[in-house]
Amino acid sequence: MQSNEIIKCILSRTSVRRFTQAPVSPVQIDTILHAAMSAPTGVNRQPWEYYVIQNKEILKKLAAALPYAKMVANAPVAILVCGDTSRFLDGEDSTLWVQDLSASSENILLAAHALGLGGVWTCIYPHADRMEAAREILSIPNSLVPFNLIPIGQPMTEGNPMKKYTSAKIHTI
Ligand SMILES: Cc1cc2nc3c(=O)[nH]c(=O)nc-3n(C[C@H](O)[C@H](O)[C@H](O)COP(=O)(O)O)c2cc1C
Repeated sequence: MQSNEIIKCILSRTSVRRFTQAPVSPVQIDTILHAAMSAPTGVNRQPWEYYVIQNKEILKKLAAALPYAKMVANAPVAILVCGDTSRFLDGEDSTLWVQDLSASSENILLAAHALGLGGVWTCIYPHADRMEAAREILSIPNSLVPFNLIPIGQPMTEGNPMKKYTSAKIHTI
């Protein structure tokens, strides 16, 4: 396998759920959002919007309301990735926005890691109760679908990526 800085970044990313109190700078957040919006999307719809949340009280409310996102309370910032229904495709392609937002979310996680930060995808969509909770706490309009919430911060400890590569999963024709 060949390696360069980007490949090393991808291979060493791991979910980070414990953060120091070190702030995430506006330039770092801007870089992460540029990465988020660089993802590929079906028919180039870019069906996304992002809430950048740094308000401690709001972060605590989200952590309390979302069952698997308790670490959000201790993160300096969290990004809520939302689907913009006005940009969803029709017919058989109507759920492609999920793939689009997933690609954007992975870019967020990789960009954070590349900057020496860490984050974790916490699941909102397709759980109706979690979508409703996020919508209420952040006054999100009905035209947007809360998709996931990604807390980001300086990792408390060094990451230890899982070994996932399995040659048996590859079918070479
Ligand atoms: C669709 C999806 C939903 C996830 N939901 C949560 C979640 O709600 N809370 C959480 O702590 N981690 C969540 N994760 C993170 C996974 O647990 C994590 O990616 C997986 O265990 C592999 O670990 P790694 O990211 O360190 O490689 C989610 C990841 C994905 C892709």
